Amino acid sequence: MVFDLDLIKKLYAGLPAKISAARTKTGHPLTLAEKILYSHLWETPTHAFVRGKDYVEFAPDRVAMQDATAQMALLQFMTCGRDKVAVPSTVHCDHLIQAKTGAAEDLATAKDVNREVYDFLSSISDKYGIGFWKAGAGIIHQVVLENYAFPGGMMIGTDSHTPNAGGLGMIAIGVGGADAVDVMAGLPWELKMPKLIGVRLTGKLNGWSSAKDIILKVAGILTVKGGTGAIVEYFGEGADSLSATGKGTICNMGAEIGATCSLFAYDESMAKYLTATGRAEVAALADGVKEHLRPDAEVYADPSKYYDQLIEINLNELEPYVNGPFTPDLAWPISKFAEAVKANNWPEKLEVALIGSCTNSSYEDISRAASIAKQATTKGLKAKSEYTITPGSEQVRFTIERDGLLDTFEAIGGVVLANACGPCIGQWARHIDDPNRKNSIITSFNRNFAKRNDGLASTHAFVASPEIVTALAIAGDLTFNPLKDKLTNEKGEQVLLDEPQGYELPPKGFAVDDPGYQAPAKDGSKVVVMVAPDSQRLQLLEPFAAWEGTDLKGLRLLIKAKGKCTTDHISMAGPWLKFRGHLDNISNNMLIGAVNAFNDKTDSVKNELTGAYGPVPATQRAYKAKGIGTVVVGDENYGEGSSREHAAMEPRHLGVRAILVKSFARIHETNLKKQGMLALTFANKEDYEKVKEDDTIDITGLTSFAPGKPLTVVLHHKDGSTDNVTVNHTYNEQQIEWFKAGGALNVIRSQVKK
Ligand code: F3S
Repeated sequence: MVFDLDLIKKLYAGLPAKISAARTKTGHPLTLAEKILYSHLWETPTHAFVRGKDYVEFAPDRVAMQDATAQMALLQFMTCGRDKVAVPSTVHCDHLIQAKTGAAEDLATAKDVNREVYDFLSSISDKYGIGFWKAGAGIIHQVVLENYAFPGGMMIGTDSHTPNAGGLGMIAIGVGGADAVDVMAGLPWELKMPKLIGVRLTGKLNGWSSAKDIILKVAGILTVKGGTGAIVEYFGEGADSLSATGKGTICNMGAEIGATCSLFAYDESMAKYLTATGRAEVAALADGVKEHLRPDAEVYADPSKYYDQLIEINLNELEPYVNGPFTPDLAWPISKFAEAVKANNWPEKLEVALIGSCTNSSYEDISRAASIAKQATTKGLKAKSEYTITPGSEQVRFTIERDGLLDTFEAIGGVVLANACGPCIGQWARHIDDPNRKNSIITSFNRNFAKRNDGLASTHAFVASPEIVTALAIAGDLTFNPLKDKLTNEKGEQVLLDEPQGYELPPKGFAVDDPGYQAPAKDGSKVVVMVAPDSQRLQLLEPFAAWEGTDLKGLRLLIKAKGKCTTDHISMAGPWLKFRGHLDNISNNMLIGAVNAFNDKTDSVKNELTGAYGPVPATQRAYKAKGIGTVVVGDENYGEGSSREHAAMEPRHLGVRAILVKSFARIHETNLKKQGMLALTFANKEDYEKVKEDDTIDITGLTSFAPGKPLTVVLHHKDGSTDNVTVNHTYNEQQIEWFKAGGALNVIRSQVKK
């Protein structure tokens, strides 16, 4: 048993009182999302929170991290002085495995190429009480659903498809590494109180339609931005008729509409899934508090009163969908898809069809897809397209192998890939004759933006259910509609594929030989975290220095950035991703995408020590070598984009002292504060113009730094004149302590020591 039963017992014991208090505070019956949110508050609420407006502190039950994002999160966690994570946490090695030839070889190669990263993650997990899932164990979200997700819980995960766990009634939210560090270190986790979108599902799925088609239709209705800042809550008889894994698929792809997360209420299918995956005790506990794991009856009766937006879908009428290309919200019912392919001149020949991934590799998905593959064999057909199968976990892979389903796929030419992200995240060495040739692929994954799967702009990627993907693989043609079109078999006969048949759960139960789990040491104090001193991919972090206790004088301007400056401009992705665990190496990308307001160029700033122009990181390193602090000046919404903590850590590491801008993207502003940086805004935005390239800068007022009290920036211009500029900040008492201590983790370390 890898899950924490005591945690669930404790949470459920507190539910009746917390939910009743929340009802009193809000003054109305509660949706399920509200019940979970209010039962996970960091502190007892004094008032109801305004949805879409108030920032609220939460206490999540768990943290899950994938291998790419876990590296910096755990390196930071190490510096906070705790000997164990504050909440149950897991690491999953799934993103760094490249699909090339097939499961066994690809996994062996990945273990070799990523050895130092895996050794680091394994040893640090061992030391700090973190469950470690080795390469090959499976994809984070499938492993979480099989082992950790539980109704009424709240978790954060360092991956955007974390909401997959909503299939078991959990509020599960994708975050950046910095948030994971907070929760593991024992800090509250902050989120704007989400708005609520209700989706009422009536009727029942039938024929070729599947849970995937529900979310593909919802994506078409809401578009890629429609769920932003909201929790999508599904309810109604149709919702209760879906399998838990089908619900997981829908919640997983809520990320494609920008939703904070998606959620289903606890029901029989969840109880069945919990029991089938070795958690009958969790199901029994959940049965005991069932009314607290579903919305209040009044919400069902009049949903438009309790959700900010309401959508209704009749499953009796739902057609299979194919979405794409290039965006997951371009939704085509299968009856209209062939027409769309022809009208838009998309390549009709289907070159590769891929099923599985964290989104769609449940036993139900695989058995339904296999029922189509089997018909191909019995009806004298073979897959005309390349066809791959990515199991979501070793448990799924082992079970479907035992039940002969992998053989069924292989019989029509299917290739089984490793239990990992692979082609879903561009980790795919695709074999294509001409990379510039327009071509079509279809997957049962979730994202289909240009270049996502194979790095090729010429690839038109579509998304559909595993059964539709399999049928199209057999036809080798995007315009094929398996509901009505016939195929010509080896004997020249016209054959029609029958509707897919599958099993919600394996009739003989799940089985697995080695699930790939490594439990942490009971006492990690003697465990050594493995990082080679000469490693280019990993670097242990030193705590940042505390504030010197004086105003900052004689700073230099590093760059005055003009226009958009997102976290990508500050810390570019792409080739730099391999340095995610090495702060000094990745700092060589600091601000290289920002436009210098004085010469309109990127990565070209004046070094005041030499008068020469050079790259931003090298110039900053020159100042650092001389012990000179610097200031970065920016425009509106500085740091928008992702929650990437590297964008705040890199300037901190290289000696930038303050970021002074017209306005901040809020998450980046908070990240800067956590790293002990000064995040300041012009009280008068026009003062941005007063900053000159050769200025020497002082920041005063720091000895009486207090919430709501502006600071002063003194600009000493080269001509001898000065400008005093008033700058605002949003630091509260606690955040000022972070600044003084040199970062939030330093504060925790000093508290742990006491
Ligand atoms: Fe991995 Fe793709 Fe899921 S990258 S976590 S399989 S969305």
